[in-house]
Amino acid sequence: MRNLSGKNIVLGISGGIAAYKSVELMRLLQKQGADVKVILTDSALEFVTPLTFQILSGNPVYTKMFGDEYETSVRHIDWAEKADCVIIAPATANTIGKLANGIADDVLSTFMLAIDCPVVLCPAMNSKMYENRVVQKNLDFLENEGFMIIEPSSGELACGTKGKGRFPEHDFIVHNLIKRMFPKDLEGKKILITAGPTRESFDPVRYISNHSSGKMGYSLAKMAELRGAEVTLVSGPTNLNTPYGVNLLPVTTAEEMADQVFSHMDDKDIIIKVAAVADYSPITIEDKKIKKSDDDLTITLKKNLDILKEIGKKKKDQILVGFAAETNEMEEYASRKLLEKNLDMIVGNIVGIPDSGFGADTNKVTMFFKSGDNVELPSMEKDKVANSILDKIYKRFLR
Ligand code: PMT
Repeated sequence: MRNLSGKNIVLGISGGIAAYKSVELMRLLQKQGADVKVILTDSALEFVTPLTFQILSGNPVYTKMFGDEYETSVRHIDWAEKADCVIIAPATANTIGKLANGIADDVLSTFMLAIDCPVVLCPAMNSKMYENRVVQKNLDFLENEGFMIIEPSSGELACGTKGKGRFPEHDFIVHNLIKRMFPKDLEGKKILITAGPTRESFDPVRYISNHSSGKMGYSLAKMAELRGAEVTLVSGPTNLNTPYGVNLLPVTTAEEMADQVFSHMDDKDIIIKVAAVADYSPITIEDKKIKKSDDDLTITLKKNLDILKEIGKKKKDQILVGFAAETNEMEEYASRKLLEKNLDMIVGNIVGIPDSGFGADTNKVTMFFKSGDNVELPSMEKDKVANSILDKIYKRFLR
């Protein structure tokens, strides 16, 4: 699973005003399951106190090379050997300069010479300093050496000016750190994913839809992006944030979804149709709100195009994965859809029960393959289900 569970992360903090933001960053890393150890430079100590990080991390904080405790003289080696990843946030121009030039004159820079794991740097400083030629040259050098550099964001800076130099969003930093730490088995692959419901209006204020929240499709998009794929997400209306790095194409109706899918499918290696597309839509859409009366109201529906079936007819050498939302006889119905729609794989899920299918954070799925076999998964969080589906796609069709 791509999270930080059981990982040893060392968080280096150098002396900038954004140092206080690292407290929240540390909390987020811990929430992902990481054990976080903190190193503070002398300048960072001017902005934040070691006690805060010591209490919240539950670990000693490393601030001095000598003269603190007996063990500190070897701590940089001990922590370096155990670290799965190091993140320096904020990284000041001074610290960046030391790293690029092999200078080891404080705890953080000395520790950095002893590590052998991925490094993520989050430069944060005044925009003029950030754009300075020497700072940029140092960053380029470090990037070429394999460091991941997360660009600062733009906006109002502590010095009162505006520009690029702000500490990026915490979520964005964690996303990139996870991305840096895991192998990118889907690198070079282009994936089209559909998610969410469609809405079929019959007057300006009313529509027919379903209970899809988009969570399953968004989890697949997020995990595929983390695994290095270029992801296009065609999504019906949801309340979810677009996963970082994913190209979102928002749609409302089944027809709009079909248009977007057909115009973006040709260059894709993998197409995964998670969306709960309306099978029917009203024949007419009134241009004024239908007034309530004492009579019953009949709305005539027309059959929508089955987008997945159409892709099945058009596809060339692409891997096509469908979903089947069933309330009963899942194996029979899912297997039938697999054949009828010319799919390589279909993911069946039972809907209409708690903790699975529509709206839930978890899902219980069975994957059915063209070859006739199937794999049943236990109920899991949708992120984990997404990873298992991608694992299977990778192992069965890409290796
Ligand atoms: O969004 P969540 O709240 O996380 O819920 C996830 C989910 C339950 C919506 C998802 O896991 C799921 O099962 N998606 C498929 C829903 C569905 O429409 O199932 P279906 O059995 O009716 O359709 C079979 C397949 O045909 C699906 O891949 C669907 O995208 C596709 N289809 C259906 C009708 C249509 N007109 N065009 C299509 O492409």
